[in-house]
Amino acid sequence: MLYDLLYKARSYRNFDPSFKYTADDMKELINLCRFTPSTANTQSVKFAYACDEELCSKIFPLLGWAGYLTEKPPYDGNVPSAYILLCCDLNITDKPIEIDVGICAQTLVLGAMEKGIGACMIGSFNKEIMSSVFSLPEKLYPRLIIALGRPNEKIVLKDAIDGNIKYYRDENKTHYVPKRPLDEILITK
Ligand SMILES: Cc1cc2nc3c(=O)[nH]c(=O)nc-3n(C[C@H](O)[C@H](O)[C@H](O)COP(=O)(O)O)c2cc1C
Repeated sequence: MLYDLLYKARSYRNFDPSFKYTADDMKELINLCRFTPSTANTQSVKFAYACDEELCSKIFPLLGWAGYLTEKPPYDGNVPSAYILLCCDLNITDKPIEIDVGICAQTLVLGAMEKGIGACMIGSFNKEIMSSVFSLPEKLYPRLIIALGRPNEKIVLKDAIDGNIKYYRDENKTHYVPKRPLDEILITK
């Protein structure tokens, strides 16, 4: 059921580092995005990926993890096994279409989770350095990167109380994610 898949598809930030993915695994995931809707059917989101250790090790230090936490994941070398970089092709549209990036990103996260692959969308990275690490052609603007791997942490969803939406970890490093109750997001009651 979509409910169960969405419930499981948390932002994972700790992964089993021994897990490896192939270029074919990455291409199978990215292929899902061909069938997503896009503004005026422009399909301006383009994808680069990394699943070899050398490239992954260059990407990892560029990423800003878990802004609300003081002790930053991933812990104990639980690094991602692969990444997919979502870029806006500015040859197709004159400015990035953020909504289309979002639709593709969630499609990748759900497609990955369906296969037991955990993911975390990361918007916090230096765009220029990321472009050079991936040797991106001119006019390809990197907007979001998705870290991927076999999940290696416990994440618990909770109802947000009094509008407090900051995620947190307990002493066992279990990650808690407060979600606003349905009543709070309904405008039409
Ligand atoms: C557009 C976008 C950008 C994000 N950027 C980051 C990021 O830079 N670093 C990070 O650790 N998490 C990032 N996240 C993950 C959010 O923190 C996460 O979705 C939120 O805490 C809720 O957790 P959940 O995805 O498990 O529901 C991002 C999520 C989205 C949708």
